[in-house]
Amino acid sequence: MRMMLFSSRPYDIESFRVAQTSATLRGFEAVDLHFREARLDESTAVLAEGCEVVCPFVNDQVGADVLQQLAAGGTRLLALRSAGFNHVDIQAATQMGIDVVRVPAYSPYAVAEHAIGMILTLNRKLHRANNRTREGDFSLTGLLGFDLHGKTVGVVGTGSIGRVFARIIAAFGVEVLAFDPVRHPDVLALGAHYVELDELLARSDIVSLHCPLMPPTRHMINAESLLSMKPGAMLINTSRGGLVDSVAVVEALKSGRLGHLGLDVYEEEGSLFFEDHSDELLLDDVLARLLSFPNVLITAHQAFFTREALEQIAVTTLSNVLAWGGGAPVNVVLPDD
Ligand code: NAI
Repeated sequence: MRMMLFSSRPYDIESFRVAQTSATLRGFEAVDLHFREARLDESTAVLAEGCEVVCPFVNDQVGADVLQQLAAGGTRLLALRSAGFNHVDIQAATQMGIDVVRVPAYSPYAVAEHAIGMILTLNRKLHRANNRTREGDFSLTGLLGFDLHGKTVGVVGTGSIGRVFARIIAAFGVEVLAFDPVRHPDVLALGAHYVELDELLARSDIVSLHCPLMPPTRHMINAESLLSMKPGAMLINTSRGGLVDSVAVVEALKSGRLGHLGLDVYEEEGSLFFEDHSDELLLDDVLARLLSFPNVLITAHQAFFTREALEQIAVTTLSNVLAWGGGAPVNVVLPDD
């Protein structure tokens, strides 16, 4: 089976090659891998001609036009190497006879631990402290943090990542509030309380987003919801950029209403993240403004990026392809998901 991986970086190539060679008993070598650095879009879909399987990454835009071209070129399976699938028009894929499979969970620890890292960094201003000491500035003014112990932390979305996050943050001695249409017993077992989103926002000192991006969750953090948050609260988004209205967040930071912001994802990240643009002018004024605040920490969609997660992504993606090829697909994404 010929499979083309778009948006491939050296670490993708290595993890897929290692998975193929270290697990030959699983038959992974039957998948003929072709790597392309280019993003998958209307201008690059033609590269996949003759590939039965196409493997996009999170910032590849797989809309109806792209799917049309892929279908015409013989593609029958989209094997997403991600958990999220908001970048694919699932309805259109189904209509065109292209199956979609994904990696529902690879390392919830990777993302949850990154969110915790962002909280500790922003609170104790480690990013600024590191810069200072390297310049010979050993002063502490401006670096004052707060004890996490005794604070209230809101977890929005208690799926696999949100649950790991809740478990780790609970160990700091915080009160955990959760919001999710589906209540999970593991979260209740931590002593956490499920509340409505309004109450979570109003009571939390720190809010961490772990729910998927879907039409109802787009801009769930907006001018109105920011006003309902505790003054000076911290917002962490390691989920999807579109959950947060970035312009509203800039205003909330300027007014001081929002005390800290940690973003691993950004709604306009598509043309920037995963690439080195350091020799170019940054033309995104909202991102440029966000980067100018000392109380904002931005990472470029790296929360998933651990050795264990890459290994698991490669193994699950190849297993998905083989299961589909064998007529018993697993981890299928359906239009109603
Ligand atoms: P999951 O599917 O296990 O859990 C998602 C949870 O969100 C479910 O419990 C669901 O009931 C809940 N949910 C749905 N609608 C909601 C709403 N309106 N409000 C609150 N909760 C809602 O997904 P998982 O694996 O925990 O991933 C969460 C998100 O993290 C993914 O959708 C993906 O966008 C993001 N992610 C980010 C990565 C990164 O590198 N930054 C890597 C992997 C995932």
